[in-house]
Amino acid sequence: MSPSPSPFQELWSPVTRQNPLPFYARLRQEAPVVRLEDPHFKHPVWVVSRYKDAVELLRDPRFTKNVDKLPETSLHRQRRNDAMAAINKHMLMADPPDHTRLRTLVSKAFTPRRVEELRPRVTAITERLLDTLEPQGSADLLDAFAFPLPVTVIAEMLGVPVEDQDKFQEWTSIIVNPPVDGNMEPLFAAGFQFMQYFQALMEKRRGEPREDLLSALVSVEEQGDRLSPQELISMLFLLLVAGHETTVNLIGNGVWALLRNPEQLERLRREPALIESAVEEMLRYRGPVETSTQRWAPQDVEFRGQVIPAGETILASLMAANHDPEQFPEPGRFDIAREPNRHIGFGFGIHFCLGAPLARLEANIAIPLLLQRLPRLRLAVDESALSWREGILVHGMKQLPVAF
Ligand code: HEM
Repeated sequence: MSPSPSPFQELWSPVTRQNPLPFYARLRQEAPVVRLEDPHFKHPVWVVSRYKDAVELLRDPRFTKNVDKLPETSLHRQRRNDAMAAINKHMLMADPPDHTRLRTLVSKAFTPRRVEELRPRVTAITERLLDTLEPQGSADLLDAFAFPLPVTVIAEMLGVPVEDQDKFQEWTSIIVNPPVDGNMEPLFAAGFQFMQYFQALMEKRRGEPREDLLSALVSVEEQGDRLSPQELISMLFLLLVAGHETTVNLIGNGVWALLRNPEQLERLRREPALIESAVEEMLRYRGPVETSTQRWAPQDVEFRGQVIPAGETILASLMAANHDPEQFPEPGRFDIAREPNRHIGFGFGIHFCLGAPLARLEANIAIPLLLQRLPRLRLAVDESALSWREGILVHGMKQLPVAF
């Protein structure tokens, strides 16, 4: 079946990328489950935009995350043998029982209780970054603060030497933001370099285990059949990417939301106990993950009156769902005390974000300290000069120039 041209193709247009909300309002209203053509990968993608439908999709076991279950003729299945396949054997690309097995291996390290133990360390890293930032008077907040904080934390948890962090930024950024021109070479090269680096680091830990997640996972792999070498490297990749490309934009988009809503910023300064609900509202209002990752139909699946043909891709727009007026009264209002606020910024169902407690802890520490230490924090450019990234997965600014 050849894709029919859709009036909703502008999901990927530069105008929509700068502010997707007007587009999503139209989509929810006129085409809540719609088939579009991904202009970069040149294949059809079904996009689901209403809150109720998004939740339904994310918990629907009829869709798979495992390309091996797709028909032989599927484009996605044919592509799985590419260079990325070696780092794609992780929980976010697996169905139960593999998903359950892989997630269980690391879930203990990410429970709210275990993550809470990191509070002193996260506070110390935040304070150190602010010590450097404070005398500067102006900076790109993403580069100088929002990025190094979560990267340092996840690198320490895993046991990756701090001096290697820049390399990760380069590789993960290429991998998470696929090339717009269709040239896959840089993507494959970054995937390959990532793998080589980790193989060397794992060898070191095999000989000299430490108190880190990497050593713990290496020892599980050595013990037997619970984790294959390929799954181990894929797990490290997933945790690093998730820890690099998301929390940075939670802090960035959250600070941006506060600065453009000064009465909410004032309220947070007056009532600091609101920080927890403020962070939830940041995740709803402009969460860092705009769309879920892809799911596939292993055979024809009927969903909300549409037939998703075998082998085709479907995803939920978390941002569209989080602005559905059926679920959130006045969705365009940024309200740091919003209650209830059952946003799906961390996804829903069995793939609900494993790192949510960590991301919440980091934002709950970083944002109040930032506001405290920089009481005159403001945008250093006009809001219209801010530029948002082009991909539909990660929603974040390229830079956030601030003065203080
Ligand atoms: C604000 C920051 C974050 C946001 C908004 C976020 C969002 C998400 C979302 C939406 C999903 C589900 C994707 C889907 O179902 O298609 C997800 C999954 C996941 N996230 Fe996060 N994430 C964040 C931070 C983190 C961090 C810091 C880590 C770990 C270091 C992490 C680890 C994971 C993992 C491992 C999964 C896959 C879970 C599974 O398949 O069972 N995330 N995240």
